[in-house]
Amino acid sequence: MSNEFELSEGGANHQKPRRDDDVMTTAQGHPIADDQNWLTAGPRGPQLLEDQIAREKIFHFDHERIPERVVHARGYGVHGHFELKKAIPQYSRAAIFNEEGVKTPTFTRFSTVAGNKGSPDLARDVRGFATKFYTKEGNWDLVGNNIPVFFIQDAIKFPDLIHAAKPAPDRGFPQAQTAHDNFWDFISLSPESMHMIMWIMSDRTIPRSFRFMEGFGVHTFRLVNEKGESHFVKFHWKPKLGLQSVIWNEALKVNGMDPDFHRRDMWDAIDAGDFPQWDLGIQVFDEEFAEQFEFDVLDATKIIPEEQVPVEIIGTLTLDANVDNFFAETEQVAFCTQNIVPGIDHSDDPLLQGRNFSYLDTQLKRLGGPNFTHLPINAPKCPVRHFQQDGHMAMTNPKGRVNYEPNSWGDGDGAEEDRGPRACPVRGFQSYQAPVEGPKIRVRSETFADHYSQARQFYVSQTPIEQTHMANALTFELSKVERMSIRKRMVGHLLHIDEGLAQEVADGIGLAELPEKVPAARDPITDLAESPALSILKN
Ligand code: HEM
Repeated sequence: MSNEFELSEGGANHQKPRRDDDVMTTAQGHPIADDQNWLTAGPRGPQLLEDQIAREKIFHFDHERIPERVVHARGYGVHGHFELKKAIPQYSRAAIFNEEGVKTPTFTRFSTVAGNKGSPDLARDVRGFATKFYTKEGNWDLVGNNIPVFFIQDAIKFPDLIHAAKPAPDRGFPQAQTAHDNFWDFISLSPESMHMIMWIMSDRTIPRSFRFMEGFGVHTFRLVNEKGESHFVKFHWKPKLGLQSVIWNEALKVNGMDPDFHRRDMWDAIDAGDFPQWDLGIQVFDEEFAEQFEFDVLDATKIIPEEQVPVEIIGTLTLDANVDNFFAETEQVAFCTQNIVPGIDHSDDPLLQGRNFSYLDTQLKRLGGPNFTHLPINAPKCPVRHFQQDGHMAMTNPKGRVNYEPNSWGDGDGAEEDRGPRACPVRGFQSYQAPVEGPKIRVRSETFADHYSQARQFYVSQTPIEQTHMANALTFELSKVERMSIRKRMVGHLLHIDEGLAQEVADGIGLAELPEKVPAARDPITDLAESPALSILKN
């Protein structure tokens, strides 16, 4: 017996629906009879603009692309959960750090930094490791990398770093952060990046897969307990599978054969039920302890030595579900360092403070307005109550009459309307009352001035084979730099780190003799220390 679903038999669209809910509609919900043939005047006549079905289909397609992230454009997102194993009420009042055994849903996005959305997975590059924890007290985003330090100390330098690392503006190549005059020019003029450069030139930046990487929050953050006491903290992700990398030769081959190698590895592992896990570790120390270090704990180019402050494991992240839709989840997710919950707080790290501005700012543009928290991937999984309203794509405007405060609705004089939410000094976020003083001044603290000690410590901590890989990586990279003065300046920095390494690289890139060490006077921070601006502080 024929039914209505067979009516299209012999018509233009031969792919018939099987059920009612199979019937294709426009975005307005109108059932569609044929979306494969534009309405025309006669079978060979001109197409009619009147065709709302065709125009809607093409209009929507024309607007499918949104700007890719200005950095970390190529990424891969996965759902999971975090389970707290060891409560830390002595350090933090955050619910996520106090309820042992509770599973907090998460979304993690791994990424490369410099490449665009279509770039290969095995580029030598830092990997982003960003996790959104959908806690009972709102979203906490730990937006970290697989390297524990960063290139620069102050966020104001970030546009320069990224301009130098991305393809040159005239020629549009190279795409990866490799073999690049602009990049090495910037680096060789930025001594603060030397510690990071040692990590970048190590095998860590060509990981075997996302599943074999560590992760780090990088900055020093604060934990604040119920009594309002603060401790500094560094966050670490330790992969249960351990740490593994490929070698450069393998990376090049994999990139050629399968540029999606890392995302495929993650998808396949999760699809097969082989869920990767990371332990969350914390290094906690107080301000008095922080004073003992020769470096500044607010300087993101420094690590806190684990021998002095051991990493304490407090919980485990399990990644156990692939996304339903790459665009809706992986592309539209918006991480931001300013998303913290009561019990976690910022420090005065000048890189962190700048990031707190930058992410929200870029997402306003990337995600088309201020309402991206309404998208399911960004929406908290706890109740959300506020008086924010309207704007592009507002989907959860507050209900009722009241959209302001203070208001007296619902106060018992017969005005029974819902009065809306009220701020709560007890449960609400209270900033740690860190004392702040000093003149407004553009100067880097002298406590940020040592750029070589930890670079050296990292290099000497590597095994001989790892050191060879680093020397090879530096030789490969610098041999592609055309300007000889940049090559020499880089070797001039390496001399501060390890003379053997400097010599090996100099030989590898054909320098007839070793250049001078880059003089300390070339260090912009030392220069600034002599600047009249700083004398205001000293007097
Ligand atoms: C994106 C990490 C420094 C600006 C990201 C992402 C990660 C990350 C993991 C990708 C997030 C995702 O998967 O969607 C870091 C780390 C830093 C650092 C660990 C240093 C410790 C900075 C600085 C700035 C900055 C200093 C700017 C001043 C951005 C921007 C995005 C981004 C604009 C794109 C965000 C988006 O479009 O949603 N960063 N970053 N980052 N980062 Fe950073």
